[in-house]
Amino acid sequence: MVKTEERTRLIELLRKLIYELTGNYYPDERMKILEYKLERLLKETGISVSSPEEVVSYFMRTPERRRQLINLMTVPETRFFREREQLEVLFDVVLKGKSFLDMGSVGCSTGQEPYTLAMMMASRGIPGRIVGMDINEEVLKKARKGIYSLSELKDIPEEYRKFVHVEGSFFEIKRDIRRMVEFREVNLIEPESFEPLKEKFDVVLCRNVLIYFDNRSKEIALSNLRNSLRRGGILVLSSTEILGKEFYHLFEPFKEGRFFFYRRREA
Ligand SMILES: C[S@@+](CC[C@H](N)C(=O)[O-])C[C@H]1O[C@@H](n2cnc3c(N)ncnc32)[C@H](O)[C@@H]1O
Repeated sequence: MVKTEERTRLIELLRKLIYELTGNYYPDERMKILEYKLERLLKETGISVSSPEEVVSYFMRTPERRRQLINLMTVPETRFFREREQLEVLFDVVLKGKSFLDMGSVGCSTGQEPYTLAMMMASRGIPGRIVGMDINEEVLKKARKGIYSLSELKDIPEEYRKFVHVEGSFFEIKRDIRRMVEFREVNLIEPESFEPLKEKFDVVLCRNVLIYFDNRSKEIALSNLRNSLRRGGILVLSSTEILGKEFYHLFEPFKEGRFFFYRRREA
């Protein structure tokens, strides 16, 4: 598709496009993988484009094609009970005594995180609802099915396996857990997609998502996340992501055990 001398221009155009569409800023080493995947997609779909500019205008032409590009660039890596200890501190210390919880999981990928939250709530007898959200509608399709390969069962601790049903080389999330979770498409950098979620949640997890954002898109995303929380609501990032002081006007950090959590700051 693209001659060697055009690669640099393609990389720059794609980087800019992905950033504008999603807030994710791609370093060079990851652009190469994307470029490779893109070439494969164009080949598979039989589309012939002769210049980097044509690639860009091809993907911008329809919402469907924009989605294809977004699905291609997202990093869907996730697992059940990821950073379990952090979640235990969240439920057993930070949220102790709550009688109902509305939780959001933004950047939920294929659903392992929201289902983990549902299992932890059910096992503690806390009623509530969880909304799993992502920009990539392909991963959301898989999440809604609630069916996973048996190789992922090892990530679920013994005491929680009663919430899944094993069938051959797959397991399925049981209906009672699935009923607690719904999924919806959102874009962290689009205030419009957060409009219906205003002050909806007591807690929002956004783990391993903002690591790919620069400060400008982080500011927009964090402001949307803040607005989706109720008064006193809590944001949970991955324990390896520390919120910089420049965002303390939106959230106030506090520490429980060895973990930081972030409380919505009132204007
Ligand atoms: C690495 S996964 C994290 C999954 C899960 N939170 C975890 O920690 O295991 C990052 C997810 O963020 C989603 N994502 C990236 N940019 C986004 C955006 N602008 N709005 C919503 N979701 C986004 C990706 O599609 C991907 O599924």
